Amino acid sequence: TRLVVLVSGAGTNLQALIDACADPAYGARVVAVGADRDDIEGLARAERAGIPTFVRELGQFSSRDDWDRALADTVAGFEPDLVVLAGFMKLVSEDFLGRVTTVNTHPALCPSFPGMHGPADALAYGVKVTGATLFIVDGGVDTGPIIAQTVVPVLDDDSVETLHERIKGAERLMLVDTVGLMARDGWELDGRRVRLG
Ligand code: GRF
Repeated sequence: TRLVVLVSGAGTNLQALIDACADPAYGARVVAVGADRDDIEGLARAERAGIPTFVRELGQFSSRDDWDRALADTVAGFEPDLVVLAGFMKLVSEDFLGRVTTVNTHPALCPSFPGMHGPADALAYGVKVTGATLFIVDGGVDTGPIIAQTVVPVLDDDSVETLHERIKGAERLMLVDTVGLMARDGWELDGRRVRLG
């Protein structure tokens, strides 16, 4: 299974996938890593692993549509079976999503706390558990069919940073386990319900 991974930041989720793919039994391989900006650790991680990288910056295109099309064309050129958004901070179009199944991780338990500030919003709300969600990206913000979720506790002395770090630990394990299952056994969509295997 050929994976293209898109990142915007530290790329720790990407690193977990790269490490898992080192074992041929995992059943997947990261064939390219793309980003919407340069000079990020996510791209450096790919380069260190010898994986081709590309950058498509929104600011370098005359319209959002042009940017989206360029990104989709570049991704398609690597012939992925699955695209993984791993901390990619931009929305992609329906046209992009129509070309290849795309999954994303969100650091909260969807449908709670969608958007850019999942850990902060969960902390401010006062929930006692939160977590991370892997979902199939649709046209909305963190609204797509849920593939897997993992739960972590919220502790009394948590800050946004300590909570997000705890979430990210669980998120990486979930991402690696679930993408591996999808790669090896496939998946089926029945309405909003995703069945693995
Ligand atoms: C993850 O928590 C992801 O869910 C969120 O941003 C974080 C990305 O972390 N959208 P990294 O770049 O994979 O380290």
